[in-house]
Amino acid sequence: MTDKNTNKQLPGVLPIVVRLLQIILYIPIQIIFIPFAVIGLIAGIYREMVISKRLGVSYSAGQALQYRWIMHYFETRPDPLSVAFIKHFPCESHFGLWATMGALIISQRLFGFTTRLGKLVEPGEETLDSTAGIRVLIFDRIMEKHVDDMEQIVLPGAGFDLIALKFTKGKAVKVFELDQVNTLNVKVETLKKAGIEHDWVTYIPVDYSNESWVDKLVEAGFDKTKKTLFLWQSVSLFLEADIVKETLGEMAALCVDGSVIAQDFYSTAFMSGEISKIAARNMSMIEKMGEPWKFTIDMSHDPEAAVGSFLKECGLKMTDFIQFGEKLDIEPFYCIVEAEKL
Ligand SMILES: C[S@@+](CC[C@H](N)C(=O)[O-])C[C@H]1O[C@@H](n2cnc3c(N)ncnc32)[C@H](O)[C@@H]1O
Repeated sequence: MTDKNTNKQLPGVLPIVVRLLQIILYIPIQIIFIPFAVIGLIAGIYREMVISKRLGVSYSAGQALQYRWIMHYFETRPDPLSVAFIKHFPCESHFGLWATMGALIISQRLFGFTTRLGKLVEPGEETLDSTAGIRVLIFDRIMEKHVDDMEQIVLPGAGFDLIALKFTKGKAVKVFELDQVNTLNVKVETLKKAGIEHDWVTYIPVDYSNESWVDKLVEAGFDKTKKTLFLWQSVSLFLEADIVKETLGEMAALCVDGSVIAQDFYSTAFMSGEISKIAARNMSMIEKMGEPWKFTIDMSHDPEAAVGSFLKECGLKMTDFIQFGEKLDIEPFYCIVEAEKL
Protein backbone atom coordinates (compact mmCIF):
# COMPACT_ATOMS: atom_id res chain seq x y z
CA MET A 1 0.00 0.00 0.00
CA THR A 2 1.44 3.39 -0.95
CA ASP A 3 1.47 6.42 1.32
CA LYS A 4 -0.97 8.04 -1.09
CA ASN A 5 -3.42 5.17 -0.59
CA THR A 6 -3.08 5.29 3.20
CA ASN A 7 -3.89 9.00 3.20
CA LYS A 8 -6.92 8.41 1.01
CA GLN A 9 -8.28 5.81 3.43
CA LEU A 10 -7.65 7.86 6.57
CA PRO A 11 -10.81 9.98 6.47
CA GLY A 12 -12.88 6.78 6.21
CA VAL A 13 -10.92 4.93 8.90
CA LEU A 14 -10.76 7.77 11.43
CA PRO A 15 -14.48 7.81 12.33
CA ILE A 16 -14.39 4.03 12.85
CA VAL A 17 -11.40 4.33 15.20
CA VAL A 18 -13.04 7.21 17.07
CA ARG A 19 -16.28 5.23 17.37
CA LEU A 20 -14.40 2.19 18.68
CA LEU A 21 -12.61 4.31 21.27
CA GLN A 22 -15.92 5.82 22.33
CA ILE A 23 -17.45 2.36 22.76
CA ILE A 24 -14.43 1.23 24.80
CA LEU A 25 -14.84 4.26 27.09
CA TYR A 26 -18.63 3.86 27.28
CA ILE A 27 -18.63 0.19 28.37
CA PRO A 28 -17.12 0.67 31.88
CA ILE A 29 -19.44 3.64 32.52
CA GLN A 30 -22.42 1.51 31.54
CA ILE A 31 -21.21 -1.34 33.79
CA ILE A 32 -21.09 1.05 36.77
CA PHE A 33 -24.65 2.12 35.93
CA ILE A 34 -26.08 -1.43 35.71
CA PRO A 35 -27.29 -1.77 39.34
CA PHE A 36 -28.84 1.72 39.21
CA ALA A 37 -30.39 0.91 35.83
CA VAL A 38 -32.11 -2.18 37.24
CA ILE A 39 -33.55 -0.27 40.22
CA GLY A 40 -34.36 2.71 37.99
CA LEU A 41 -36.18 0.57 35.46
CA ILE A 42 -38.36 -0.98 38.15
CA ALA A 43 -39.07 2.46 39.68
CA GLY A 44 -39.87 3.91 36.25
CA ILE A 45 -42.16 1.11 35.13
CA TYR A 46 -43.97 1.13 38.48
CA ARG A 47 -44.68 4.84 38.26
CA GLU A 48 -45.47 4.93 34.54
CA MET A 49 -47.77 1.93 34.57
CA VAL A 50 -49.06 1.26 38.09
CA ILE A 51 -49.29 4.78 39.53
CA SER A 52 -50.60 6.35 36.32
CA LYS A 53 -53.31 3.68 36.11
CA ARG A 54 -54.19 4.19 39.78
CA LEU A 55 -54.47 7.96 39.28
CA GLY A 56 -56.36 7.50 36.01
CA VAL A 57 -54.02 9.72 34.00
CA SER A 58 -53.07 9.37 30.36
CA TYR A 59 -50.15 6.97 29.85
CA SER A 60 -49.50 8.30 26.33
CA ALA A 61 -49.21 11.85 27.67
CA GLY A 62 -46.62 10.61 30.18
CA GLN A 63 -44.66 8.96 27.35
CA ALA A 64 -44.66 12.20 25.35
CA LEU A 65 -43.34 14.03 28.42
CA GLN A 66 -40.65 11.41 28.90
CA TYR A 67 -39.40 12.08 25.36
CA ARG A 68 -39.05 15.78 26.17
CA TRP A 69 -36.88 14.85 29.18
CA ILE A 70 -34.74 12.70 26.85
CA MET A 71 -34.39 15.57 24.37
CA HIS A 72 -33.25 17.88 27.15
CA TYR A 73 -30.53 15.60 28.49
CA PHE A 74 -29.37 14.46 25.05
CA GLU A 75 -29.18 18.14 24.07
CA THR A 76 -31.51 18.15 21.09
CA ARG A 77 -34.01 20.55 22.71
CA PRO A 78 -33.49 22.39 26.00
CA ASP A 79 -36.51 21.93 28.24
CA PRO A 80 -35.78 22.77 31.89
CA LEU A 81 -39.51 23.07 32.60
CA SER A 82 -40.23 19.43 31.70
CA VAL A 83 -37.25 18.30 33.79
CA ALA A 84 -38.44 20.32 36.82
CA PHE A 85 -41.95 18.94 36.25
CA ILE A 86 -40.83 15.29 36.07
CA LYS A 87 -38.98 15.61 39.39
CA HIS A 88 -42.37 16.06 41.09
CA PHE A 89 -44.52 14.03 38.71
CA PRO A 90 -45.98 10.91 40.36
CA CYS A 91 -46.16 8.94 37.08
CA GLU A 92 -42.50 9.14 36.09
CA SER A 93 -39.18 8.71 37.87
CA HIS A 94 -36.45 11.29 37.26
CA PHE A 95 -34.05 8.92 39.03
CA GLY A 96 -35.28 6.01 36.89
CA LEU A 97 -34.66 7.92 33.67
CA TRP A 98 -31.17 8.97 34.78
CA ALA A 99 -30.37 5.47 36.00
CA THR A 100 -31.37 3.84 32.71
CA MET A 101 -29.93 6.48 30.37
CA GLY A 102 -27.23 8.11 32.51
CA ALA A 103 -24.30 6.17 31.00
CA LEU A 104 -25.31 7.28 27.50
CA ILE A 105 -25.87 10.89 28.61
CA ILE A 106 -22.47 11.09 30.34
CA SER A 107 -20.71 9.40 27.41
CA GLN A 108 -22.26 11.84 24.95
CA ARG A 109 -21.27 14.83 27.04
CA LEU A 110 -17.75 13.68 27.95
CA PHE A 111 -16.49 12.24 24.68
CA GLY A 112 -19.20 12.72 22.07
CA PHE A 113 -20.53 9.14 22.00
CA THR A 114 -23.83 9.85 20.26
CA THR A 115 -26.61 7.32 19.80
CA ARG A 116 -29.89 7.88 17.99
CA LEU A 117 -31.19 9.58 21.16
CA GLY A 118 -28.73 12.42 20.67
CA LYS A 119 -29.15 12.91 16.93
CA LEU A 120 -31.64 14.86 14.88
CA VAL A 121 -32.09 13.95 11.23
CA GLU A 122 -32.51 16.28 8.27
CA PRO A 123 -36.11 17.29 7.40
CA GLY A 124 -37.67 14.68 5.14
CA GLU A 125 -35.32 11.94 6.35
CA GLU A 126 -37.22 11.15 9.51
CA THR A 127 -37.71 7.51 10.27
CA LEU A 128 -40.10 6.05 12.79
CA ASP A 129 -37.30 6.21 15.36
CA SER A 130 -36.66 9.90 14.93
CA THR A 131 -40.28 11.04 14.64
CA ALA A 132 -40.84 11.47 18.38
CA GLY A 133 -38.21 14.20 18.65
CA ILE A 134 -38.70 16.02 15.36
CA ARG A 135 -42.43 16.37 15.83
CA VAL A 136 -41.80 18.22 19.11
CA LEU A 137 -39.45 20.62 17.32
CA ILE A 138 -41.93 21.23 14.51
CA PHE A 139 -44.70 22.08 16.96
CA ASP A 140 -42.23 24.44 18.71
CA ARG A 141 -41.62 26.15 15.35
CA ILE A 142 -45.34 26.46 14.70
CA MET A 143 -45.80 28.01 18.14
CA GLU A 144 -42.88 30.43 17.60
CA LYS A 145 -44.20 31.41 14.16
CA HIS A 146 -47.68 32.33 15.41
CA VAL A 147 -47.47 33.21 19.08
CA ASP A 148 -47.01 36.95 18.62
CA ASP A 149 -49.90 37.25 16.12
CA MET A 150 -52.48 35.40 18.16
CA GLU A 151 -54.83 36.62 20.86
CA GLN A 152 -55.67 33.16 22.17
CA ILE A 153 -54.00 29.75 22.15
CA VAL A 154 -55.98 26.56 22.76
CA LEU A 155 -54.43 23.15 23.37
CA PRO A 156 -57.17 20.52 23.32
CA GLY A 157 -55.56 17.38 24.80
CA ALA A 158 -52.52 19.20 26.18
CA GLY A 159 -51.50 16.28 28.38
CA PHE A 160 -48.22 17.06 30.18
CA ASP A 161 -46.90 19.18 27.35
CA LEU A 162 -45.44 22.44 28.72
CA ILE A 163 -45.06 24.12 25.32
CA ALA A 164 -47.55 26.84 26.26
CA LEU A 165 -45.63 27.73 29.42
CA LYS A 166 -42.37 27.75 27.46
CA PHE A 167 -43.55 30.13 24.73
CA THR A 168 -46.28 32.33 26.20
CA LYS A 169 -44.87 33.54 29.52
CA GLY A 170 -45.17 37.32 29.68
CA LYS A 171 -47.00 37.52 26.32
CA ALA A 172 -50.35 39.21 25.76
CA VAL A 173 -52.11 36.01 24.77
CA LYS A 174 -54.79 33.98 26.58
CA VAL A 175 -54.03 30.29 26.91
CA PHE A 176 -56.50 27.44 27.43
CA GLU A 177 -55.51 23.83 27.96
CA LEU A 178 -58.08 21.03 27.81
CA ASP A 179 -57.73 17.40 28.79
CA GLN A 180 -59.42 14.71 30.84
CA VAL A 181 -60.03 15.62 34.46
CA ASN A 182 -57.52 13.28 36.16
CA THR A 183 -54.73 14.17 33.77
CA LEU A 184 -55.28 17.90 34.25
CA ASN A 185 -55.58 17.61 38.04
CA VAL A 186 -52.25 15.79 38.24
CA LYS A 187 -50.71 18.34 35.86
CA VAL A 188 -51.76 21.33 37.95
CA GLU A 189 -50.74 19.67 41.25
CA THR A 190 -47.33 18.80 39.80
CA LEU A 191 -46.80 22.33 38.44
CA LYS A 192 -47.52 23.69 41.93
CA LYS A 193 -45.16 21.21 43.62
CA ALA A 194 -42.43 22.01 41.09
CA GLY A 195 -42.91 25.75 41.65
CA ILE A 196 -43.57 26.31 37.93
CA GLU A 197 -45.57 29.47 37.29
CA HIS A 198 -48.72 28.75 35.30
CA ASP A 199 -51.26 31.31 36.50
CA TRP A 200 -51.92 32.76 33.02
CA VAL A 201 -53.14 29.40 31.71
CA THR A 202 -56.77 28.28 32.13
CA TYR A 203 -57.08 24.51 32.58
CA ILE A 204 -60.38 22.99 31.44
CA PRO A 205 -61.28 19.37 32.25
CA VAL A 206 -63.28 17.71 29.48
CA ASP A 207 -63.89 14.37 27.77
CA TYR A 208 -64.52 14.98 24.04
CA SER A 209 -66.29 11.67 23.71
CA ASN A 210 -69.24 12.69 25.87
CA GLU A 211 -69.02 16.40 26.70
CA SER A 212 -69.08 19.64 24.73
CA TRP A 213 -65.54 20.99 24.83
CA VAL A 214 -66.74 24.15 23.04
CA ASP A 215 -69.28 24.96 25.78
CA LYS A 216 -66.62 24.43 28.41
CA LEU A 217 -64.11 26.57 26.52
CA VAL A 218 -66.55 29.42 26.12
CA GLU A 219 -67.62 29.18 29.79
CA ALA A 220 -63.93 29.45 30.72
CA GLY A 221 -63.60 32.80 28.90
CA PHE A 222 -62.70 31.89 25.30
CA ASP A 223 -63.65 34.79 23.01
CA LYS A 224 -65.12 33.72 19.65
CA THR A 225 -64.13 37.02 18.05
CA LYS A 226 -60.39 36.65 18.69
CA LYS A 227 -57.62 35.21 16.54
CA THR A 228 -56.70 31.79 17.88
CA LEU A 229 -54.03 29.15 17.42
CA PHE A 230 -55.26 25.61 18.11
CA LEU A 231 -52.47 23.11 18.77
CA TRP A 232 -53.80 19.57 18.54
CA GLN A 233 -50.70 17.44 18.90
CA SER A 234 -51.07 13.66 18.93
CA VAL A 235 -54.65 13.58 20.18
CA SER A 236 -56.87 12.74 17.19
CA LEU A 237 -55.38 9.25 16.87
CA PHE A 238 -57.04 8.29 20.17
CA LEU A 239 -60.53 9.40 19.08
CA GLU A 240 -63.21 7.77 16.93
CA ALA A 241 -63.34 9.15 13.36
CA ASP A 242 -66.71 10.84 13.91
CA ILE A 243 -65.40 12.60 17.04
CA VAL A 244 -62.30 13.79 15.15
CA LYS A 245 -64.49 15.19 12.37
CA GLU A 246 -66.91 16.79 14.79
CA THR A 247 -64.10 18.30 16.89
CA LEU A 248 -62.31 19.73 13.84
CA GLY A 249 -65.60 21.09 12.50
CA GLU A 250 -66.17 22.79 15.85
CA MET A 251 -62.64 24.21 15.82
CA ALA A 252 -63.23 25.53 12.30
CA ALA A 253 -66.42 27.23 13.50
CA LEU A 254 -64.43 28.93 16.28
CA CYS A 255 -61.82 30.30 13.86
CA VAL A 256 -61.97 33.96 12.86
CA ASP A 257 -59.77 35.26 10.01
CA GLY A 258 -56.11 34.61 10.75
CA SER A 259 -56.77 31.72 13.16
CA VAL A 260 -54.71 28.56 12.64
CA ILE A 261 -55.23 24.91 13.51
CA ALA A 262 -52.04 22.84 13.74
CA GLN A 263 -52.19 19.09 14.21
CA ASP A 264 -50.75 15.75 13.22
CA PHE A 265 -52.06 12.58 11.58
CA TYR A 266 -50.81 9.00 11.38
CA SER A 267 -51.31 6.79 8.35
CA THR A 268 -53.49 3.70 8.25
CA ALA A 269 -50.47 1.59 7.24
CA PHE A 270 -48.64 2.79 10.34
CA MET A 271 -51.45 1.74 12.66
CA SER A 272 -51.80 -1.64 10.99
CA GLY A 273 -48.24 -2.44 12.17
CA GLU A 274 -47.05 -3.03 8.58
CA ILE A 275 -44.42 -0.33 8.76
CA SER A 276 -42.67 -1.05 12.04
CA LYS A 277 -42.74 -3.90 14.53
CA ILE A 278 -41.41 -1.57 17.26
CA ALA A 279 -44.21 0.88 16.58
CA ALA A 280 -46.71 -1.99 16.67
CA ARG A 281 -45.37 -3.07 20.08
CA ASN A 282 -45.62 0.51 21.41
CA MET A 283 -49.18 0.77 20.19
CA SER A 284 -50.09 -2.48 21.86
CA MET A 285 -48.58 -1.23 25.15
CA ILE A 286 -50.50 2.06 24.93
CA GLU A 287 -53.66 0.07 24.16
CA LYS A 288 -53.08 -2.13 27.23
CA MET A 289 -52.86 1.08 29.26
CA GLY A 290 -56.37 1.96 28.09
CA GLU A 291 -55.67 4.20 25.08
CA PRO A 292 -56.27 2.27 21.85
CA TRP A 293 -55.32 3.98 18.58
CA LYS A 294 -58.43 4.62 16.56
CA PHE A 295 -58.05 7.28 13.92
CA THR A 296 -55.74 7.30 10.90
CA ILE A 297 -55.81 8.51 7.30
CA ASP A 298 -55.03 6.34 4.28
CA MET A 299 -51.87 7.98 2.93
CA SER A 300 -50.88 5.16 0.57
CA HIS A 301 -51.50 7.09 -2.68
CA ASP A 302 -51.26 10.86 -2.43
CA PRO A 303 -50.89 11.72 1.27
CA GLU A 304 -51.14 15.48 0.82
CA ALA A 305 -54.36 15.16 -1.19
CA ALA A 306 -55.81 12.61 1.25
CA VAL A 307 -55.17 14.81 4.29
CA GLY A 308 -56.30 17.96 2.45
CA SER A 309 -59.56 16.35 1.43
CA PHE A 310 -60.23 15.08 4.96
CA LEU A 311 -59.67 18.59 6.32
CA LYS A 312 -62.00 19.99 3.66
CA GLU A 313 -64.76 17.69 4.92
CA CYS A 314 -64.22 19.32 8.33
CA GLY A 315 -64.53 22.86 6.93
CA LEU A 316 -60.79 23.54 6.79
CA LYS A 317 -58.26 24.50 4.15
CA MET A 318 -54.77 23.05 4.51
CA THR A 319 -52.07 25.74 4.43
CA ASP A 320 -48.98 23.71 5.30
CA PHE A 321 -48.17 20.01 5.01
CA ILE A 322 -45.04 18.35 6.37
CA GLN A 323 -44.73 14.69 5.51
CA PHE A 324 -42.27 12.69 7.58
CA GLY A 325 -39.77 10.44 5.82
CA GLU A 326 -40.64 12.14 2.52
CA LYS A 327 -37.14 11.68 1.08
CA LEU A 328 -37.00 8.02 2.06
CA ASP A 329 -38.40 5.09 0.16
CA ILE A 330 -40.99 4.21 2.76
CA GLU A 331 -44.75 4.37 2.89
CA PRO A 332 -45.97 7.65 4.43
CA PHE A 333 -46.55 7.18 8.13
CA TYR A 334 -47.01 10.60 9.70
CA CYS A 335 -47.58 14.26 8.87
CA ILE A 336 -48.00 17.60 10.59
CA VAL A 337 -50.36 20.13 9.04
CA GLU A 338 -51.55 23.67 9.48
CA ALA A 339 -55.04 24.66 8.39
CA GLU A 340 -57.42 27.60 8.41
CA LYS A 341 -61.16 27.98 8.09
CA LEU A 342 -62.45 27.38 4.54
C1 LIG B 1 -50.39 11.38 23.27
S1 LIG B 1 -51.13 12.42 24.44
C2 LIG B 1 -50.61 13.96 23.75
C3 LIG B 1 -50.51 15.01 24.79
C4 LIG B 1 -49.88 16.31 24.30
N1 LIG B 1 -50.65 16.91 23.25
C5 LIG B 1 -48.46 16.08 23.90
O1 LIG B 1 -48.16 16.18 22.70
O2 LIG B 1 -47.65 15.82 24.78
C6 LIG B 1 -52.86 12.37 24.06
C7 LIG B 1 -53.69 13.26 24.97
O3 LIG B 1 -55.04 13.25 24.48
C8 LIG B 1 -55.90 13.25 25.61
N2 LIG B 1 -57.20 12.67 25.22
C9 LIG B 1 -57.41 11.48 24.60
N3 LIG B 1 -58.73 11.23 24.50
C10 LIG B 1 -59.36 12.30 25.05
C11 LIG B 1 -60.73 12.64 25.25
N4 LIG B 1 -61.71 11.82 24.86
N5 LIG B 1 -61.01 13.82 25.86
C12 LIG B 1 -60.01 14.65 26.27
N6 LIG B 1 -58.70 14.38 26.10
C13 LIG B 1 -58.38 13.22 25.50
C14 LIG B 1 -55.18 12.36 26.60
O4 LIG B 1 -55.65 12.53 27.93
C15 LIG B 1 -53.73 12.78 26.41
O5 LIG B 1 -53.35 13.80 27.27
